[in-house]
Amino acid sequence: MSEAIFPRYTRRLELRFHTAEDAADLLRVYSQKSVARYLLEDRWDEEYTQEQLAKRISRVTLDQEPHALALVVANDMGRYVGDLALWLTDIPHRQAEIGWVSDPQCAGLGYLREAANELLTLAFGPLRVHRVVAHMDARNAASAALAERLGFRKEGYLRGDLFSKNEYTDTLIYGMLAEDLPTCEPA
Ligand SMILES: CC(C)(COP(=O)(O)OP(=O)(O)OC[C@H]1O[C@@H](n2cnc3c(N)ncnc32)[C@H](O)[C@@H]1OP(=O)(O)O)[C@@H](O)C(=O)NCCC(=O)NCCS
Repeated sequence: MSEAIFPRYTRRLELRFHTAEDAADLLRVYSQKSVARYLLEDRWDEEYTQEQLAKRISRVTLDQEPHALALVVANDMGRYVGDLALWLTDIPHRQAEIGWVSDPQCAGLGYLREAANELLTLAFGPLRVHRVVAHMDARNAASAALAERLGFRKEGYLRGDLFSKNEYTDTLIYGMLAEDLPTCEPA
C-alpha cells in the first residue's frame, strides 16, 4: 500500500523513499552538532550513515516488516531539504510515531511543516493510522513549535525519563488524532 502512495508531491516538495544516493546529504546534515543536539544519537560519521541509510531504504511500508516509512523531503530541484519518519508502535491498533529533521540550510522556510502535514494527511487517510505521537527533548523548542503548527496537542511532560548525551533529559509528548489535523493547510 505505502509503496503505491510515494513519491508524493506537495506545493513545493516531494516526499520519496531513500536511495543509496542520499548518503552524502544525510552525512552532511546528521554530522552537524545543531542537528544531533536533541536527537538520541550522536553526530553521524560515514560508517554510521551507511548503516542508517541501509535501514531507511527498507522502510517503505507500514503494513509489513519493518512497519515504518522513511522519507526524504526534496525541493523542486530534487535536492534533499529534510526527512520524515513514521513508524507503527502498536501494529494491530495502528498507533504511530513521527520524526522530522530539516537541513539547517533550509530551516525557517516551512518545508517540514508542509511535508509533515502531507504525511499526516496520508497517515489518517490511506495509511489508516489511528493516532500519531511526537516525542521530543523538552528543550527542543523548534520541534515543539513544529508540532503545534501541525495541530498536535501537548499531552505530556516526562521528567528526567531519558539519559542522553551524559545527562538526564525531560521529554515532551505531543499527540494527534484525525480530528486534530487542520482542514486547510495555510500557504
Ligand atoms: C525540528 C525542525 C525539523 C523544525 O524545522 P523548522 O524549519 O523550524 O520547521 P518548518 O519547516 O515548519 O519551518 C518553520 C519556520 O519557517 C517559517 N516559514 C517561512 N515560510 C513558511 C511557510 N510558507 N509555511 C510555514 N512556515 C514558514 C515559519 O515562520 C517558521 O519560522 P520560525 O521558526 O522563525 O517561526 C528543525 O529544527 C530540526 O531539524 N532540528 C534538528 C533535528 C531535530 O531536533 N528533530 C526533531 C527531533 S524530535
